[in-house]
Amino acid sequence: MKKVVLSGMRPTGKLHIGHWVGALANWARLQEDYRCFFMVADWHALMSEYKNPFSLRRNSLDNLSDWLAYGINPQKAVIFRQSEIDEHLELAMILSAITPLGWLYRCPTFKEQIAQLKEKDVNTYAFLGYPVLQAADIVIYKANFVPVGEDQLPHLELCREIVRRFAGLYKKELFVEPQPILTAASRLLGLDGRKMSKSYENYISLDEEDETIDKKVLSMITDPARMKKEDKGHPDICNVFAYYEIFKKEMHDEVFDWCVNAKKGCKDCKKFFAQILKDFIAPRREKKREIIAKEDYLLDILREGNKQAKEVASRTMAEVKETLGL
Ligand code: TRP
Ligand code: SF4
Repeated sequence: MKKVVLSGMRPTGKLHIGHWVGALANWARLQEDYRCFFMVADWHALMSEYKNPFSLRRNSLDNLSDWLAYGINPQKAVIFRQSEIDEHLELAMILSAITPLGWLYRCPTFKEQIAQLKEKDVNTYAFLGYPVLQAADIVIYKANFVPVGEDQLPHLELCREIVRRFAGLYKKELFVEPQPILTAASRLLGLDGRKMSKSYENYISLDEEDETIDKKVLSMITDPARMKKEDKGHPDICNVFAYYEIFKKEMHDEVFDWCVNAKKGCKDCKKFFAQILKDFIAPRREKKREIIAKEDYLLDILREGNKQAKEVASRTMAEVKETLGL
């Protein structure tokens, strides 16, 4: 029996190359060896987007097209939409009954988001319970592994605590304590050196046009010590170099040499990289364009994935209800 992997992404907007490096590349590898469930986490997205929920459907299909264009394969993985599987909510309710409020208030993501997302006003009941719903997403499929970014580790730890509490209370090892799979790749920073994020406008999207790739890459900040071409550079502190490391590792020595020996200026170095990125993105962008035009095809994929997810989720829910005598 293959071990189970579950992961999800919130359809809050366009996906960017940070999502590829941080998640999708990993998912594409994992689907080869595990029974993978990949979820469009639209209920989780609703918690920050409730003032404009009408964008969620469009974003879901847009993101799904990116997944497919970047190699997520519906023949290999179960691809589904969270809001189609009612059982997640049923289980979240039951898990919320056994989750002490203190665990949720103490969760660093809760404290941070409340401070950061002022304009979105996430001071809500559902948002406090975000990790409980996420725990339900995971344990309902008895996932062994959850590929996540570092920021999600507290949620996973909370999930494990909930699993242990369930087992302790009901004397039944129904659920599996999931392990995180952290992405090995160093985090890809945004064009300005801050975290790559939609809200900072410092990203390159997965379907970025060639012209804007050029523009965006040329706008990247490099080693500030390199004012002139003759100045020797420090690749280790240059974000462009970090991008090379991720998208063209085999050029490590060459770019290093250009930089520390002042053989190429930053502008040329960036132009060269822009071409690498265009070669990577362009065929996938075109593929996405074809996919997103076929809405029926996308809906078919979701329908099939939802069916498979539902089968597993409803089986688990039956076990849960029996365990609790409900
Ligand atoms: N909270 C995750 C994020 O913001 C998305 C998510 C929802 C998720 N449910 C999940 C991730 C279950 C992994 C497993 O990225
Ligand atoms: Fe960065 Fe390249 Fe400039 Fe060196 S030459 S500082 S690696 S952009």
